Amino acid sequence: MSENREHFSSRIGFILAAAGSAVGIGNMVGFPVAATKNGGGAFLIIYALFVVFLCIPIMLAEMGLGRRTQSDPQGAYVGIAGAASKWRFAGWLAVLTPFMIGVFYMVVTVWILGYLVLSLTGGLSTIADPAYFGTFINSKLVFVYLIAVAALVYAILVMGVKNGIEFAARIMMPALFIMLLLMVVFVLSLDNAFAGVKFYLIPDFSAINGTVISGALSQAFFSLSLGMGILITYGSYLRKHDDLIGSAKLVAIADSLVAFTAGLMVLPAIFHFDPSTNPSDLSDSSVAMIFTFLPKIFMALEVSIGYIGASAVASLFFLLVFFAAITSLVSIIEVPTATLVRKYNISRKKALGTLALTMGVLTLVATASFGMVDHFTNLLTYGGKSKSFFDLIEDVFYQTVLPFNGLLICLFVVWYWRQDNFNQSLKDGSNQYMGSLLQRYINFSLRSFIPVVLAVVFINTVLDIYF
Ligand code: PHE
Repeated sequence: MSENREHFSSRIGFILAAAGSAVGIGNMVGFPVAATKNGGGAFLIIYALFVVFLCIPIMLAEMGLGRRTQSDPQGAYVGIAGAASKWRFAGWLAVLTPFMIGVFYMVVTVWILGYLVLSLTGGLSTIADPAYFGTFINSKLVFVYLIAVAALVYAILVMGVKNGIEFAARIMMPALFIMLLLMVVFVLSLDNAFAGVKFYLIPDFSAINGTVISGALSQAFFSLSLGMGILITYGSYLRKHDDLIGSAKLVAIADSLVAFTAGLMVLPAIFHFDPSTNPSDLSDSSVAMIFTFLPKIFMALEVSIGYIGASAVASLFFLLVFFAAITSLVSIIEVPTATLVRKYNISRKKALGTLALTMGVLTLVATASFGMVDHFTNLLTYGGKSKSFFDLIEDVFYQTVLPFNGLLICLFVVWYWRQDNFNQSLKDGSNQYMGSLLQRYINFSLRSFIPVVLAVVFINTVLDIYF
């Protein structure tokens, strides 16, 4: 199987693809706003510690498992534990998770495309009205954008690993970096920009509490695309001689750097718009920030740079977020694609067709759960709140299953697969790994406190959301 398996053409191709997965909607506004509200520089320090000491070992566990088994998550668990083992359920869960989160992510990507098209075609004044968002997401237009996003993702994935995933990342990721830098330079030149930078960077340790710390961990975990089987799958497209460890480090650095830089774009813009902004009043919801708050800010630029200028800035922002979202969406959907192709021995075309149908139906339901169809809008009540189908996916998969999958990976890699095998997989292509401090740290942390931390996060989330 391994000889036929497609691989990334080069190390940089892998890094760009994995960074493409990691850099997503979460980086662009979720991270900057969370940091500003929760202690600025103090949050940044905690976040960085989590990335280095907790997330990188988990990243390596996923990638190492993928490279050794040369398989998707389901095949990876079964390949090591055997088809009859209970671990096969962990494998299925790691495929179901991206399938469901794909639906969730798809919905938001569709809206981004809609707002991009509106900004490009002179509709900035329309989207600047926060009330328009409600109208937009309940309009028929959404279906047109849904088809467009699905077609683009299909076109990328059907081309395979090298010509599809890697090719798209090679174009979109550098473009994204350039657009981000352009935005930062522009925004920093605005009046009061530095008030925003101050709130973002100056540490306020008094803001740190248990909730902030666990929020920082969830943000880092989500941002690096952990617990989704994605890094197992992308790791399986690495060859034996590829430097897995060096690549993983670069992916973590690139993701964190983009998240950090996005803060230099978002916060100055907010403070230019209203210098008296109180950071604690900013919305936690990335959706609200992107679709109702920021368009208003772009519109206000009309005074200084005219309507066309303001529309150009808004378009640049939405294109940037769109690229970030597409490369993430591609990585999410590659997991079930790879699983279907291997398990049922079908072509990528057939696998993608099956996914387009099933995910398409669920995406329609999720879209309709924003008021269009009451049954889906008020689907269930738990934790004292009425929840829509979209909320249900977010609560169950995003919030609950992600840390649980992370926990399963740790337990599987160190307790079942065994440390020696794991180290064997990591050391190929990274000569200095064996005996290094890093090796000892990874082995120790995955065996001890990382699963404990993930279990605590998991239990906390369950108590918090459902009871
Ligand atoms: N890491 C992406 C972000 O920051 C989101 C994502 C999560 C992508 C899980 C793939 C898998 O938005």
